Amino acid sequence: MKIDLDSIDPITSDLDCLIIGLFEGEEEESSALNRVKDLVGDSLDVLLETGEISGRLGNNVLIHSLILNSKNAKGLKRIIFCGLGSRQFFSVARLRDGLAPALRRARGTKCNSVAIDVDSFLGDSIDLSDAIEQTAQACHTGLYRYETFKSKKASSNIEDVKILIGKDEDLSNLHDALNIGIAIGQSVNLARDLANGPPNVVTPSSMAEVAKGMASQHLEVEILETDDMDALGMGALLGVARGSAQPPKLIIMSYFGDQSSENVMAFLGKGITFDSGGLDIKSTVGMRTMKGDMAGGAAVLAAMGAIEQAKPKMNVIAIIPATENMPGGNAQRPGDVVTAMDGTTIEIDNTDAEGRLVLADAVCLALARGANKIIDVATLTGAIRSALGEHCVGAFGNSSNFTKLVIEAGESVGERIWELPTYEEYSRQFESDIADIKNSGGASGGAITGAMFIGHFRGEADWVHLDIAAMSISLTTRGEIVKGATGSGVRTLVNLANVVSQTAK
Ligand code: BES
Ligand code: MN
Ligand code: ZN
Repeated sequence: MKIDLDSIDPITSDLDCLIIGLFEGEEEESSALNRVKDLVGDSLDVLLETGEISGRLGNNVLIHSLILNSKNAKGLKRIIFCGLGSRQFFSVARLRDGLAPALRRARGTKCNSVAIDVDSFLGDSIDLSDAIEQTAQACHTGLYRYETFKSKKASSNIEDVKILIGKDEDLSNLHDALNIGIAIGQSVNLARDLANGPPNVVTPSSMAEVAKGMASQHLEVEILETDDMDALGMGALLGVARGSAQPPKLIIMSYFGDQSSENVMAFLGKGITFDSGGLDIKSTVGMRTMKGDMAGGAAVLAAMGAIEQAKPKMNVIAIIPATENMPGGNAQRPGDVVTAMDGTTIEIDNTDAEGRLVLADAVCLALARGANKIIDVATLTGAIRSALGEHCVGAFGNSSNFTKLVIEAGESVGERIWELPTYEEYSRQFESDIADIKNSGGASGGAITGAMFIGHFRGEADWVHLDIAAMSISLTTRGEIVKGATGSGVRTLVNLANVVSQTAK
């Protein structure tokens, strides 16, 4: 798909479709709508009167060439009006959620070339470059399909997108917005591809290969093997890997965009490419979605791709402990004691609480590599769904300023994040009788004790944990989300890097 800025007149063009956004309650005043009135004629008034053309979020109405003014028969073939909801609640998320269904509708009617009236998306908090960036993102994320293993690929594809802008706009600025929007959209889709990929294909080794393929002048990629991890004393990570026939990989991606600064942020991502539960084996239903237990690692890996392109002035190292959690003959047992990289001894209370184990060693490595701010992204607990449902990510941290920074970085790009407490008292739940701590704190407050277990290893660093377990997969296609893996976390991380680089200036 080619997405570009263009100032052609869509009406006289030969394009398959023009998409125009409408705000609820402002349909008749819409200047974009009034510009096409000549072409559509009286029928538009009828459709407005009956409420068929409406700005309700997600609503879209297609007007076909049959009723387009015959004198323009050679011109534009279709118009889709897409609802953006009421202006009062408009946001970048709503822009993407309003536009994506219209794009899928256009694709469904075999449109090849689409023009988008980006002016119709402007709002109080959304200027032209924001609207262009979000439009480019939504083209990628909204039209996403995972068909790697389909013998017969879908035949309908939008190949050419023209984002319409005036002739006298400052092009270089707008092109930057377009390119960053494309990069972020593609990164979200890469994270989705990895989490949608079958677990016999998306293994620790194949994730490492994907990371290596992203290496560039600005992005260094290292892969630690079992022996390297052993030499570092990563007993918690290696304990999880023991039950699997797949070798574990520790993926490290470094981006140093500000050599003058000593500050290093670490992005850690849980990379369990399949979570069977281990010897504390999961139920049939519980195991069904566990190919997606590397969604946090995928989000971190994919975010580094967009960061490499955006080149923010800051330093970040990504660490992805990648392994399966399997019940093989050599698997760790409930009751085992393992030792993490910092010397902490951990009693294995439940082999299914593996994410916190691999992340414990990742936190230790981040500290050893000089990170002073750590954010980890993980499908850590089923309990986060009980706590928050499926409409926001859970956040936990030890520094209110840093937690706030992360939450705001997410909110402003349309990823909702809600903070839960980390009161010291909860940590009693993971005290062990025979070791320093144990890896499960029981059922009550499960998302909190899981988070605090990881936080136990943070040393002097500011740390935030994001539990994306309830947000990483969607059972339905809605707005810019396509059924399956969502790519949750990518935008928050990319924007966090951006926000940090802005404040450093
Ligand atoms: N990967 C799971 C968490 C999960 C559950 C993610 C459902 C997505 C959907 C994690 O490794 C796990 O098994 N957690 C246990 C922890 C418990 C044993 C302390 C859980 O949530 O039940
Ligand atoms: Mn588990
Ligand atoms: Zn897991």
